[in-house]
Amino acid sequence: MKAIPHETMNIASEAETRELGLRIADAAEPGDIIALTGDLGTGKTALTKYIAEGLGIKEEINSPTFNIVKEYRSGRLPLFHFDVYRLDGGDEFYDAGAEDYLNGKGVCVIEWADIVADVLPEDALVVNIRYGEEDGARIVTLL
Ligand SMILES: Nc1ncnc2c1ncn2[C@@H]1O[C@H](COP(=O)(O)OP(=O)(O)OP(=O)(O)O)[C@@H](O)[C@H]1O
Ligand SMILES: [Mg+2]
Repeated sequence: MKAIPHETMNIASEAETRELGLRIADAAEPGDIIALTGDLGTGKTALTKYIAEGLGIKEEINSPTFNIVKEYRSGRLPLFHFDVYRLDGGDEFYDAGAEDYLNGKGVCVIEWADIVADVLPEDALVVNIRYGEEDGARIVTLL
């Protein structure tokens, strides 16, 4: 991943989440892992859609909850979109074949990444999303 400021942002609207997604996509390089954390409905899938848009992916992005992973290959880099909400930990993640994706040349975006944190590399970009006070507001921390 190219350098990207690691900071806490007060986001006022989904348009700003889109800007962040586009910036992450611009910084993305083959093999990057983007670990999304945050409560139900905070915008992990929304952010993934905007990262996909920034990568130039033309397909519609749907939550992969029932598939664990969905692959999109129409952009600048392949996108592997995971939702591990239903998994119990890194062992199950590996059983589902995650290792090949994590070591591959695409960009892995993982929703509920805290569940599988034990098998994620140290240099993964962690993006935590929390609800802000106002409608549409979010507090986003890049670690
Ligand atoms: N600033 C914002 N950033 C992202 N999404 C926002 C924002 N403001 C409002 N939303 C809305 O919040 C919802 C976020 O839903 P989304 O499915 O992306 O969340 P999620 O974190 O993936 O949920 P889940 O935990 O079920 O996977 C969407 O309906 C989106 O339009
Ligand atoms: Mg989601």
